[in-house]
Parts: sequence; C-alpha cells; structure tokens
Amino acid sequence: MEVAVAAGVSGVAADCGGLLTCATCHVMVQPPFASLLPPPDSDEQAMLPFTAVTATPASRLSCQIHLTEAMDGLTVELPVSQY
Ligand code: FES
Repeated sequence: MEVAVAAGVSGVAADCGGLLTCATCHVMVQPPFASLLPPPDSDEQAMLPFTAVTATPASRLSCQIHLTEAMDGLTVELPVSQY
C-alpha cells in the first residue's frame, strides 16, 4: 500500500493509512505471487468483507502485504472502485 500511494496509484485510496480500518487498499494479487504471501491474518480476514467491490479469493488488503525481494515483480489487479 505504501509503495502504491507513494507512486500515485489512484486506485489505492488507503484512507486509514494502514491501520486496517478502511478496506480502501483492496487489491487482487495475481499469480504466481499470491502463493508467495502468507495468508491473511484474522484481522485482515475480518476486514475483507468490507471492501467496496466483493472480495475474491485473490483479494488482499495491500496495507497488510509486506514486500520482500522474492516478490519483485508483484502484480495486482485493482477493483473498479474502493468506495
Ligand atoms: S489502508 Fe486501510 S485497511 Fe489498508
């Protein structure tokens, strides 16, 4: 989320600044990177139903994705809206 906001990606609103209270940082992680991420923890799972666009199995809240070198090239799809 921080990388997207710093890069000016308009589709990532991140209204809460990463506090896991807004669900406006919704992204859909594309293969093969989804399998490199740890599964969403219980707090992220609790927020995923509150995304503006219905979450899919590929959905994550980007503020909870911690980038590593293994994720170089990570590709995500953005929902049509964050609100
Ligand atoms: S930035 Fe608000 S939940 Fe991710």
